Amino acid sequence: MAVIGSGLDFTDKGFGYDFYPLQTLQPFAVYDSLIRLGLAEPGKIDITAFDISREVLEHLRRARDRAKTGENYVVQLPRESWPWAADAVDYWRSFGSEIGKPVASIQPPVALKDLETRAVEIRPDVILSCKPVDLNIVFEQFDGSAMGGFDLIIGTNLFLYYDELEQALALQNISTLLKPAGFLLTNDWLPHLPQIPDALQRIHTRAIWRGG
Ligand SMILES: C[S@@+](CC[C@H](N)C(=O)[O-])C[C@H]1O[C@@H](n2cnc3c(N)ncnc32)[C@H](O)[C@@H]1O
Repeated sequence: MAVIGSGLDFTDKGFGYDFYPLQTLQPFAVYDSLIRLGLAEPGKIDITAFDISREVLEHLRRARDRAKTGENYVVQLPRESWPWAADAVDYWRSFGSEIGKPVASIQPPVALKDLETRAVEIRPDVILSCKPVDLNIVFEQFDGSAMGGFDLIIGTNLFLYYDELEQALALQNISTLLKPAGFLLTNDWLPHLPQIPDALQRIHTRAIWRGG
């Protein structure tokens, strides 16, 4: 699978929590979910993390270097005090069960005393399954012929930065990367792109597109 733009979570977007170090979650969250849902087997997932950001790519490279020496990667999972949907709370509680184990979390400052926190130590083999690749999905193509294409590509909070032409270019590039029955999952609204059937846009309000 591929994640396009996994990003670096350096503060919570809404409230600016900055009491924990830089981290990236998305590739490992997807690994975790694929195993939990029985869609893949542990040790049999290869993740390519495409990004244009040097910070993101270097962060992942450093995590991989540490993983090669057996070091885990710890992620902090703060949860606000207002009510979350029950499913979201269940997800938050179980996050990481397939990729590592819970560890003591960094305690938030007193001003954030209502914030709940969890932390998960992700195993080195999971970190090593994720390979960072410098790629601009709008303007560059990736030769994935050796691997035969991706079953799943995730790109969230990505397309919204681009105009329609750029979105169409990105989608064209993505279509060359997907296996014939592979999926692109995005939370961005892409109503003007002819590649994505209207019906699918309507069903999900966000685009879930099956290539091929
Ligand atoms: C707002 S962050 C999204 C992070 C995460 N996916 C999320 O949903 O929270 C956007 C990410 O996409 C990357 N990005 C933006 N444009 C890109 C492009 N054309 N090609 C590859 N990555 C891109 C950024 O560097 C960043 O890592």
